[in-house]
Amino acid sequence: MDIRLEKWSEDLKDGLIYVCNGTDRRYLTGRIPEPYTEADADWWLNMIKEYDGKDGLYRAIIVDGEVAGNITIEGKKDIYVKDAELGYVLNKEYWGRGIATVATRLIVEEAFMTLDIAKISSEVFAPNVASRRVLEKNGFALEGVLKNAAFKDGRLYDLCRYGKLKG
Ligand SMILES: CC(C)(COP(=O)(O)OP(=O)(O)OC[C@H]1O[C@@H](n2cnc3c(N)ncnc32)[C@H](O)[C@@H]1OP(=O)(O)O)[C@@H](O)C(=O)NCCC(=O)NCCS
Repeated sequence: MDIRLEKWSEDLKDGLIYVCNGTDRRYLTGRIPEPYTEADADWWLNMIKEYDGKDGLYRAIIVDGEVAGNITIEGKKDIYVKDAELGYVLNKEYWGRGIATVATRLIVEEAFMTLDIAKISSEVFAPNVASRRVLEKNGFALEGVLKNAAFKDGRLYDLCRYGKLKG
């Protein structure tokens, strides 16, 4: 299996729509519109042009030549400027094959090499075991559990805060 990351472009727009409409939103914030339309994809692809390579990294996860997922590292502002937030989603058809683990390794390496950051963080819904394993397998440390920090679909969730330091 060939797994690589590619900068998002207009050519990959259908892939972005496929990923966002084919994932599981249970443990995601409400940032990804549902259903995810062509207009949503146009807006996002245009928005990231401004930030990619400067304040963050925005990459398609390509598996054997096909778009399988989206992985991002978003810069922060103010006192948080040396920290950046990692996020990822895969279309369900690609789950359970180690793809997010490899994609995370690749984007973390690139981020620490190219962005002016000291740390990468991620907040995960406590029951999202797959996502927590992806982070743990990539050397992220559990820095704390934020009790009842998220409310989704009528239920409160703890958020697990993970971090990885440069070097
Ligand atoms: C989270 C997500 C990206 C994981 O992608 P993936 O490519 O399937 O993950 P990987 O195969 O690299 O690794 C998953 C790990 O979790 C484990 N895992 C997967 N599903 C699991 C489950 N339901 N319960 C327990 N462990 C599970 C796998 O066994 C593997 O660990 P292991 O190598 O120790 O066996 C994918 O499930 C997804 O897109 N989820 C919806 C979006 C989302 O929640 N994103 C994260 C927001 S923080």
